[in-house]
This record gives sequence, C-alpha cells and structure tokens, in this order.
Amino acid sequence: MQVNLAEYINKNKKIIENHLYRSIEAMKIPKNLKDSMLYSLQAGGKRLRPILLFASYESYADNIEKVLNTACALEMIHTYSLIHDDLPAMDDDDYRRGKLTNHKVYGEATAILAGDALLTHSFELVTNDPLLTDKEKVFIVQLLSRASGASGMVAGQILDMEAENKQVSLEKMEEIHRLKTGKLISFAITAGAYLANTNEKQVEHLSSFATYLGLIFQVQDDILDVTGDPEKLGKPVGSDSGNQKSTYPNLLGLEGAIDIKNKYVVLAKEALQKAEVRANYLEALTEYFTERDH
Ligand code: IPE
Ligand code: IPE
Ligand code: MG
Ligand code: MG
Ligand code: MG
Repeated sequence: MQVNLAEYINKNKKIIENHLYRSIEAMKIPKNLKDSMLYSLQAGGKRLRPILLFASYESYADNIEKVLNTACALEMIHTYSLIHDDLPAMDDDDYRRGKLTNHKVYGEATAILAGDALLTHSFELVTNDPLLTDKEKVFIVQLLSRASGASGMVAGQILDMEAENKQVSLEKMEEIHRLKTGKLISFAITAGAYLANTNEKQVEHLSSFATYLGLIFQVQDDILDVTGDPEKLGKPVGSDSGNQKSTYPNLLGLEGAIDIKNKYVVLAKEALQKAEVRANYLEALTEYFTERDH
C-alpha cells in the first residue's frame, strides 16, 4: 500500500494536538503552571513520536483511538525533556519550536515545574484511559517509565553532558544517542506494536528497526545543528559546537555523519522488511527522518 506521508502527518497531527491541548485545558491546576505547560505544547513541534506510534499501530491494526492517550503521553514526556534540555544548567538555549524557550518566558523555576507536571501527567493519561485493559496500562506505564527515566532518556542526557568537551568513541556516542533520543522513539514503535497485538517475532524486528531509526533521527539532528536553517528548525544552529557536544559531525565530519546515517537507513529498512507490516507508513517515515530539514 502506497501512502501520502504529508497527508498522513497533517491528519494525525491535528488529532494529536486537539487531544493534547484538551487534556491539559481540563486540568484544575494553578493558572501559571497550566499556561507554562500549554505554552511549550502549543509552540509547535513536529509530533513525530506520536505519529510514529500511530504508524506502528496502524501497521497491524485499525482504530487509532486506542493509542491516542498513549501517543499524547509520549509527546508530553518529549516536551518536558525539551523544556529541561533548554535550561541554562543544560544546553542553555533561548529558542525552541520557533519561540522563546519556556524558562525565557516563565522563569526557570516555573519551567522546571511545568516539565515535572508534563512528565507526571503523562502517566495519569495512560492509567485513566478507558480503552486500555489493566494489563495494557501496566505494560505501557512500565515501558514508558523505562524509556524516559534513569535507564532511558534521562541516562542519555547525563551521558551527553558528561561527554561535553571530550573526544568520545563512536561506540560511546551511539550509546548516548540510543538512550537520549532512541529510547523514546523505540517506545513509540514498541507501544504501537504491543497495543496492536503483534507477535514476538514482529516485535523483535521492529525493535531493531526502532534502534536504527532513533540513531538516524539523532544523526540528522546533529547534522542540522551544522547545516540547518534556524528559521526552519525553530531552534538555533551551532548550539552543539558552542557547548562542545559529542556529535556525529564533530566526531566524523559532515561527510562521515552522512555516510553513517545512510548505513543506518539500510539496516533500518532491512529490519522493517522482516517485521511483516501491512502498510508503508514506517518506511515513508524513515525516509522523512533521513531527509528532514526541520
Ligand atoms: C528534538 O526533537 C530533540 C531531539 C531528541 C533531537 P524534535 O526534532 O522531534 O523536536 P520537535 O518536537 O519537533 O520540536
Ligand atoms: C535533546 O538532544 C534530547 C532530549 C531532550 C532528550 P539535543 O540537545 O540534541 O536536542 P536539541 O538539539 O536541543 O533539540
Ligand atoms: Mg541536549
Ligand atoms: Mg539541546
Ligand atoms: Mg541537537
């Protein structure tokens, strides 16, 4: 089945954003906190992780309503990770999603708390989901906490900081990227497949696919920090070299980074072929991840 990816992304983006905003707007919480949470969610963002979760689910099953809360929970955790990533104590960036960063508008203390609140609310969203069985809720909460916490994204963030101002090996950098970016991307794929009732063999191939997709995503993010257009990206370029980050272009040069990205693409597509998907959404998204300019 051929897919029109732009149409697929636009249609699902609207569904995700409506649900995302509504679920925060309905909360009875202090106004400044709500404003700050909504500010970063509504600033834009490509919504690639929830779209990926939809695509993984729809590779095997119908009715995306079943994964809508889980997909929004993932986007909330991703947005929290960006709010904290931009803080002065971390990457110290002033622009995100084309707007001033959360702490620039609301102050550091509120930005930290808005991030905390998005993280915890994501678990409430999953556990309150009337469309999931108790068993599914427990599985998803466990998978999501592992992907985002101390053995996932947070681990990647600390290793990323520790690798600043250092020459690290390619293996070390892959490990950092697999954690800081890859784990949430893997969650999208695995959660979608699990809720669609895929078999063990399919999950195995999909998780190998997800690992390469996460690496592709982060190599491209690193490349765009060198070659990208800040207007299109909605965030500054040159932040990585300013912070002496260990990135693919810093380690391998721009050509080397592009070469390794292309190797990951071949491996990702090989794994995907074995996963017996019924539609080409994931393949189309892999191409989009590879070529994206924002
Ligand atoms: C940026 O992610 C952070 C990384 C993990 C590299 P995205 O490029 O998906 O950011 P948004 O959500 O579109 O703003
Ligand atoms: C951030 O990686 C990844 C997470 C927030 C987990 P980067 O620091 O490379 O992301 P950008 O470039 O600021 O979006
Ligand atoms: Mg960072
Ligand atoms: Mg950053
Ligand atoms: Mg980056």
